[in-house]
Amino acid sequence: MCGIVGFTSDEPAAPVLLRGLKCLEYRGYDSAGIATICNGQLNCGKDVGKLDEVCTNHNLIGLVGNTGIGHVRWATHGGVTMENAHPHCDCKQEIAVVHNGIIDNYEELRAELRSEHCFKSQTDTEIVAHLLEEYVEEGLSLEAAMRKVVRRIRGTYSIAAISVREPGRLVATRKDGPLVVGRDGNRKFIASDALAFMEHTHDVAYVEDGDIVVLDEDIVFTNEDGAAVDRAFKTIDWRWDEPTKQGYDYYMMKEITETPDAIRCALEQDKDLILDMAMNILRAKQVVFTACGTSRYAALVGRYLFSRLAGKFCDVIMGSEFHYFSDSVDKNTLVIAISQSGETADVIQGVKKARENGATIFSMINMIGSSIARMSDRSIYLNCGPEIGVAATKSFMSQLAILYLLAFTMANRMDEGIQKVRDVCDTIEGVIETNGLRVERIAGLTKHNNSCYYIARGINFAIAAEGALKLKEISYIHAEGMPAGELKHGTLALIEKGTPVVVICPKDYTFEETLANAAETKARGAFVIGVSEENHAMFDEWIEIHATEEIFYPLVTVVPLQLLAYYSAVARGNDPDRPRNLAKSVTVK
Ligand code: AGP
Repeated sequence: MCGIVGFTSDEPAAPVLLRGLKCLEYRGYDSAGIATICNGQLNCGKDVGKLDEVCTNHNLIGLVGNTGIGHVRWATHGGVTMENAHPHCDCKQEIAVVHNGIIDNYEELRAELRSEHCFKSQTDTEIVAHLLEEYVEEGLSLEAAMRKVVRRIRGTYSIAAISVREPGRLVATRKDGPLVVGRDGNRKFIASDALAFMEHTHDVAYVEDGDIVVLDEDIVFTNEDGAAVDRAFKTIDWRWDEPTKQGYDYYMMKEITETPDAIRCALEQDKDLILDMAMNILRAKQVVFTACGTSRYAALVGRYLFSRLAGKFCDVIMGSEFHYFSDSVDKNTLVIAISQSGETADVIQGVKKARENGATIFSMINMIGSSIARMSDRSIYLNCGPEIGVAATKSFMSQLAILYLLAFTMANRMDEGIQKVRDVCDTIEGVIETNGLRVERIAGLTKHNNSCYYIARGINFAIAAEGALKLKEISYIHAEGMPAGELKHGTLALIEKGTPVVVICPKDYTFEETLANAAETKARGAFVIGVSEENHAMFDEWIEIHATEEIFYPLVTVVPLQLLAYYSAVARGNDPDRPRNLAKSVTVK
């Protein structure tokens, strides 16, 4: 979603800002822009399109000045137009603002300011530039003006601003939006994601809700009342790898092939931490997973594992709905939040509410130092490295690995669990190799279908749902995944001649019943794609998987489904890394 970068030093800002925005591109965006200050003048360039195009068409690299801000926008309020791209400026072109999030009361503020100010965009963000202008005109510094703005706006935001009246200074604030500061001598950075400046420094401090941070020769944090607050700098231990496709056509394929390593890295955890978390989960009166999208499907696998291995029942509630259940969340509740980015606004909202009610928060996160990690009582990192493709692949496998680790530890079988997951992991390379060409051919057969259904039972139901999510996300084919037994309660009405139905039916105790459900679709003309270790007369196409223990099938069944989605997207001419309308990090509700 939107990404913010800011930089101040005694060297040109534009190259650093553009490098930073490049690192945030993977989050998904529709327009880009930067603003710099030089000799009492604000230079601003922005437009719709890819960063490289905007950069070339508006000569962004040529914008002079040592202080600046940059932004990649994912439209919420106002269409995808040049006017709506950030930065937004005040009437006098003295102040520039970038914003990530949503200002809920922008209409009311806009109505108030309209008679005195000239609005150029339809965005909620522009009101911040005009409010700052109002307060600076009253004689306030940019910092004091920002403090006053914060009292006027409602919503979720990370905001950074510069003013020609205070060259060499950046002022920023946040509420429920990500914002991190970095320093490297006299070079000061701010961004919505530390990845934006990770190639320059690992020395970071996190901006907390309500903080106003000023970056110039120093970095000073103050609270809403202007009192200084201490935000400790720490070194984040994250190796910076330039995101490259390493010979693959797309990041998504590279990331699928990185799965075995991702699983192995996820298993490298502090055993005491895992033990402590497992004990707390067992002891908790009520355990609730909360997550969105793919991470929620990982939670569904986790729920099954906790029940099957440790006899512990848990609920799974999607992030955007969790806060509606807050009446039932109290100090006896243990919440496990799962999120690759650690910045998903829907999850943050539920977790915040649960914390207020006294719940304990555990989390499983990939992005180090992210908001959810910092809100948690205990957090486990996935350790799978940055995931660039919008479609989650390797991070899902890392989440599963940690859930196996926790479940086996809850059953007092930690070492056995680690060994077993490692063994299954070795077979995953084979799954990718065996199925690549076959799945590509199947994708070619089904690429013109409008709908596709995925069915499975037991632990693999979550994999059916995940397979369907992957397909719709990047191929834009309508897809639904469901428990096989649920099909006849409605969805069967949609099956007609040639409808692809992906049947995940490993040879475990669900095999016969799942196959019976597949037969019901076949009888209505479905094109049945079986995912199993053995071929069957029922299957029109067969995707082979390795035999394993029942509980480990998700690890081997999901990979061919990721490949099916990938090849379907490519066959339809889509970019699987950057699906339309979607963002990697969903920082708005
Ligand atoms: C997965 O392919 C999707 N891009 C999406 O559903 C994602 O899983 C969801 O937005 C949650 O993201 P998170 O794991 O970063 O919280």
